[in-house]
Amino acid sequence: MASHRIAVIPGDGIGPEVVGEGLRVLERVASLHGFEIRPTRFPFGAEHYLESREVLPDAAFSEIRAHDAILLGAIGDPRIEVGLLEFGIIARLRFDLDLYVNLRPVRLYAEHLCPLKDVRPEDVDFTVVRENTEDAYAGMRGFFKKGTPDEIATQEILFTRKGVERAIRYAFELARTRPARAGRPKKLTLIDKANAIRAMDLWTRTFAEVGAEYPDVTRDHQYIDAACMYVVRDPAQYDTVVTSNMFGDIFTDLSAMIQGGLGIAASGNIHPGRVSLFEPIHGSAPKYAGRGVANPIATIMAISMMLGYLGESSAAQHIEEAVADLLRSRRLPSLGTDSGFSTRQIGDLVIEALEQVRAAS
Ligand SMILES: NC(=O)c1ccc[n+]([C@@H]2O[C@H](COP(=O)([O-])OP(=O)(O)OC[C@H]3O[C@@H](n4cnc5c(N)ncnc54)[C@H](O)[C@@H]3O)[C@@H](O)[C@H]2O)c1
Repeated sequence: MASHRIAVIPGDGIGPEVVGEGLRVLERVASLHGFEIRPTRFPFGAEHYLESREVLPDAAFSEIRAHDAILLGAIGDPRIEVGLLEFGIIARLRFDLDLYVNLRPVRLYAEHLCPLKDVRPEDVDFTVVRENTEDAYAGMRGFFKKGTPDEIATQEILFTRKGVERAIRYAFELARTRPARAGRPKKLTLIDKANAIRAMDLWTRTFAEVGAEYPDVTRDHQYIDAACMYVVRDPAQYDTVVTSNMFGDIFTDLSAMIQGGLGIAASGNIHPGRVSLFEPIHGSAPKYAGRGVANPIATIMAISMMLGYLGESSAAQHIEEAVADLLRSRRLPSLGTDSGFSTRQIGDLVIEALEQVRAAS
């Protein structure tokens, strides 16, 4: 029997609640598909920091990286200096494990979940490849004369040929292998701001050079400001998208809204062939912590992505079909905190849907 070792970091705020439901779904699907999950829980996050002043010790980092995959809830707590835990845990895992692709599928499963009028599920089905280790997030920053009227603050936007090329190449491969939608060419859209941030000319050139190796993939280009408009006006035009770290951060939250909100949007932080990290894209939503109203579906979808990555594709698909059926049934009027269902009840509904999908197949 296949066995997968998963490092689980529930984290802060609503993280432990949504991860709890995700693990229930994971255990159920593992037993249905005949594989074993061996989770190891790690306590890192705000409570642990307040008790011990530890963010993510090196020994624990080494232990985490020895797993087959990592499942993260959310990190961030208003009692702690802004960014300290987010950089110390999330960014550290992304950078030090060199998880260079942030993969974010955007799919609308049921029309009533989309805030845009007359947008149907077949109109929203694309995947964003966000470069995940460079840009302004590389941490090259500083303050000069801090706190004085002459203060200067800088933060470098950094791109390397290697970093840009590997993200673009991953995106072309994905665009080539992603199931084609009826009547549409395989397409990859580069989103940048090369007209104003001239360093992004590196993206333009690399996109053209790598793209020449993929003649079967149609190339498209948009500036980020226009892309924010197009994704609202005509989301059906996207197939696969590749973009930089900062623009991907923003564009995927906007995209998440058209698929139903942060309650469903999931992501994988991936280095192909190595231990990779899967998480909902939402944060710790501190004001909802402990209230049992957070939607666990984003975490459940992150688990589906994780299973796909681990080679358990039928289990991954089973979860996706169960979630899709549940959403199409309209039992959940929304995916926000106002759905009328508790975190636990939504976990139950997904498990029920898993059984129904199995019975129907
Ligand atoms: N990867 C991460 O762990 C991550 C990502 C983003 C933000 N953060 C951190 O999280 C903290 C809070 O950030 P924020 O308030 O800007 O963003 P957030 O994503 O935590 O919450 C924004 C809003 O989205 C909704 N929401 C989020 N998750 C939901 C869910 N599962 N179900 C239903 N509704 C949900 C809620 O209305 C919430 O108030 C900050 O400390 C921030 O740095 C962490």
